[in-house]
Amino acid sequence: MKNVLITGGAGFIGANFVHYLLNAEPDVQIINLDALTYAGNLENLADLRDNPRHIFVVGDICDQELVNSLFHDHRIDTVVHFAAESHVDRSILGPGQFVQTNIVGTFTLLEAARRSWLIEKRLPAETVRFHHVSTDEVFGSLQPGEPAWTEDTPYAPHSPYSASKAASDHLVRSYFYTYGLPVTISNCSNNYGPYQFPEKLIPLMILNALEGKPLPVYGDGKQVRDWLYVEDHCAAIYRILQAGKTGETYNIGGNNQPTNLEIVHTICRILDQLCPDSPHYPHAHLIKFVADRPGHDRRYAMDITKITSELGWQPQEDLNSGLDKTVQWYLTRPEWVRSITEREDYQSWMKSNYANR
Ligand code: NAD
Ligand code: TYD
Repeated sequence: MKNVLITGGAGFIGANFVHYLLNAEPDVQIINLDALTYAGNLENLADLRDNPRHIFVVGDICDQELVNSLFHDHRIDTVVHFAAESHVDRSILGPGQFVQTNIVGTFTLLEAARRSWLIEKRLPAETVRFHHVSTDEVFGSLQPGEPAWTEDTPYAPHSPYSASKAASDHLVRSYFYTYGLPVTISNCSNNYGPYQFPEKLIPLMILNALEGKPLPVYGDGKQVRDWLYVEDHCAAIYRILQAGKTGETYNIGGNNQPTNLEIVHTICRILDQLCPDSPHYPHAHLIKFVADRPGHDRRYAMDITKITSELGWQPQEDLNSGLDKTVQWYLTRPEWVRSITEREDYQSWMKSNYANR
């Protein structure tokens, strides 16, 4: 890979991947296309401001003209597609933007790749790749005791978010079968780590606990997610770019499957150790059970045999060490935190999602 188009590279996983790839590939040039929605944050890329190997473009993945011109002007040979609306709760309150960005946006990128690589044949066929980043949520929900999802599990999405991601996965796969576009897809479990927007469970609980605000646990808190440290996800995607087979899908997961309540208690314990003089000690007193999310998926678990055996990837971080690092990261970034929490759109989101629970 030489000229890589990364979409959504100002968001959580995208920004981590931009850093990862710049370190891993000394000659790569990155074109980072991001619309800077509420979830995009230039602070996530602040250290790359003067880096000539990283070109940042503010723009929408649904803008066909813009996307075509990026392919043309930068001779894009690799796409790593992260840009999306990514939060389930927001998809419940406003599904339209999820259809637009996640489905129409993915379609727009596929069309640009098809035109540049297959119709105009700008680059040798064996040098191009479209990697689509997706989620385990396309598989629906598991009951306790049911086996983890494999790549062959049928799709059964439950939220507008997961339905829009499922639709985009189907489109990506259809471009492989119909046009021969060299695609790969990864379906990954819940990520956590540096730069995650504090609307998701782990950073929200860390920041609320630090401020002595309630820690809102939906329903009974016994839902299970398969947590993966974000750097492990970046390594998996990089491995797929290097050795994945086109037309294939790879499941990625962390082999860590605690309940939400266990996660929140672990965060509280870490904060108790790091901040023993806090007026909010012990932090677990802040836990508050609130109304459940509609259609709340009970359990996610990924079978990662395929990527482990075929590509030799394994998660490196365990949940305790990963959470330790993550809490430390948020504790030592008060300015990054304030750049989000002081924004009016963030405060009004918090009110609209939590006020009536
Ligand atoms: P995020 O919400 O933190 O970031 C999304 C980024 O996409 C933001 O920078 C935003 O500005 C950008 N964006 C949104 N709409 C855009 C548009 N129309 N045009 C250009 N840019 C746009 O998301 P994330 O958590 O980093 O997730 C990245 C990808 O990984 C998503 O596709 C998501 O479905 C997938 N994923 C996320 C997780 C997770 O736990 N966060 C797990 C598995 C898969
Ligand atoms: P989230 O981080 O939103 O990821 P996803 O819904 O994509 O899995 O939520 C993770 C789990 O935490 C999910 O079961 C919902 C739950 N949750 C809470 O209990 N309270 C909260 O305030 C949030 C944001 C999530």
